[in-house]
Amino acid sequence: MEGRLLAKARSALAEKQRRNHSEENRRRAEIYESIPEIRTIDGEIRALMSELVALALGTGSHTAAELESASLTLQDRRAALLRAHGYDAHYLDEILSCPICGDTGFLSDGKPCACLIRLYNAEQTRELSPLLKNGQESFDTFRTAYYPVEPLSPNTPAPRVQMERIFRICRNYAEGFMPGSGNLLFTGMPGLGKTFLSACIAREVAAKGFSVAYDTAVTLLSAFEQEKFSRSAEEQADAASRVRQLKGCDLLILDDLGTELGSAFTQSALYTLLDGRIRSGRSTIISTNLDRDAIRERYGAALSSRLEGEYQYLRFIGKDIRAQKKGEK
Ligand SMILES: Nc1ncnc2c1ncn2[C@@H]1O[C@H](COP(=O)(O)OP(=O)(O)OP(=O)(O)O)[C@@H](O)[C@H]1O
Ligand SMILES: [Mg+2]
Ligand SMILES: [Zn+2]
Repeated sequence: MEGRLLAKARSALAEKQRRNHSEENRRRAEIYESIPEIRTIDGEIRALMSELVALALGTGSHTAAELESASLTLQDRRAALLRAHGYDAHYLDEILSCPICGDTGFLSDGKPCACLIRLYNAEQTRELSPLLKNGQESFDTFRTAYYPVEPLSPNTPAPRVQMERIFRICRNYAEGFMPGSGNLLFTGMPGLGKTFLSACIAREVAAKGFSVAYDTAVTLLSAFEQEKFSRSAEEQADAASRVRQLKGCDLLILDDLGTELGSAFTQSALYTLLDGRIRSGRSTIISTNLDRDAIRERYGAALSSRLEGEYQYLRFIGKDIRAQKKGEK
């Protein structure tokens, strides 16, 4: 987990605790008002607690058994009063958002609790904003009407049918997403909905509480470059934490592969990233205008055969939707 995001997740947890405490106080005030006898009982329970301390110090005048039975009697009376007034017997209990870790965020073995991991992932998802900014991309707003019914040239698939199939594959992928769900590669000409569909998947997978990171190849590789070559310690540390996130997230969306400046460094950074994610069973979705041959030519046999073996290739076809939308206006 990355420090800055973890700090945000913990403060989200602390905020939950504050809200729970203030709700506990509100309930207590409400009950003391409507059932004053409970205030008296609470006073007596506190007195018993002091007796228990006295007992432990050897200065008490009651036995442990006496104190325990007195306490049980008071608890029963308290619960009965609550019920008699139409409240749940546990109405005044401590409120915990997560009974597993008691809202501490950590388990007894020091590992982070699932609730903290969810908050952490939610913080990470907030950083997806460049991809999800206008919030319109969802499986409900994806329109297949933009894709022509007829094949664009003889002996090629009909775009509408092909894109309906791709749409279903993507929706199923998002719905059933688990770490290790496998990888997708979107290839096709500009304006055919590749970024759109990857945003749909990102939104849905992130909503399930998985960590999702989105980056274009250009900015992703510049993070790798800064991590390695930056002279500013601060910039380098930021880049290093971004790189860790890109390597470790449950789902990485790598957009516009092929638009980055090619160099020996970017080639090897990409290979290491994508190969590492395959090896560790982490899923990636790549979008690119390059076709199979162009990928092989640009990235070499090692990377392209990794991709061909491990990614499901989905070929987007149709007529530039960006241009169609411009025409609508
Ligand atoms: N099926 C669709 N229904 C509605 N709008 C769409 C659909 N597909 C794409 N669009 C819209 O068309 C525009 C271009 O789509 P998008 O950015 O996803 O294309 P792309 O395939 O990623 O193109 P590029 O290769 O240039 O990155 C966007 O404004 C997007 O919202
Ligand atoms: Mg795009
Ligand atoms: Zn928890």
